[in-house]
Amino acid sequence: MLDQNELKRNVAAAAAEYALECLQPDSVLGVGTGSTVDLFIDAIAPHRDRFRAAVSSSERSTRRMQDLGIKVLDLNEVTGMPIYVDGADEVDGDLNMIKGGGGAHTREKVVASVADRYICIVDESKLVKRLGAFPLPVEVIPMARSSVARKLEAIGGRPALREGFITDNGGEILDVAGLDIDDPARYESLINDIPGVIGCGLFALSGADLVLLSTQAGVRRIERK
Ligand code: 5RP
Repeated sequence: MLDQNELKRNVAAAAAEYALECLQPDSVLGVGTGSTVDLFIDAIAPHRDRFRAAVSSSERSTRRMQDLGIKVLDLNEVTGMPIYVDGADEVDGDLNMIKGGGGAHTREKVVASVADRYICIVDESKLVKRLGAFPLPVEVIPMARSSVARKLEAIGGRPALREGFITDNGGEILDVAGLDIDDPARYESLINDIPGVIGCGLFALSGADLVLLSTQAGVRRIERK
């Protein structure tokens, strides 16, 4: 029986293999954030001469890549990338996701928006029928913490401030439990529209194109329908 860390390591290795099929020597790779992505960075680093550079979604991933000799570019220097590889906290059968357990979802969404394909790498514990058991991370401007929290309560959520956590953008995170996310894209738009929200952890308006799902029986591919 593989434990969760071994499942993550397997999907990270499969993602590195997949990425190397997609990347050319002049390609830029989009890289997400989290413990699964850390393992992906470790797996791709020995092959860093097979692509030009990476764009990172967090200071954490930037440090790890630079320590392993991967060149990291600023997103403003890049006009496109074939793939973006990132984990998720939950993913449903339509490849909508909740992200932001690591608090990096705003930058993740921006970097992903520049990539042709979003490759989501998760172990099987992250696959759900309906999003929302994992509290939805919402990044806010600090002065708007309370006003945004009241709006989130008005749509049925129970927001809790992530204590002592400041994002790479200088924002704070409200983790919102209790939302009945029957229509992920509608909730994403609704929350994005609240003044003071920097970024919502729902990835539904633009979800994953491919999920690599690590199971006890191996890594399964789930393509967007
Ligand atoms: C960070 C994220 C991560 O992708 C998500 O939290 C999954 O992390 P892990 O791979 O550690 O389980 O969205 O903002």
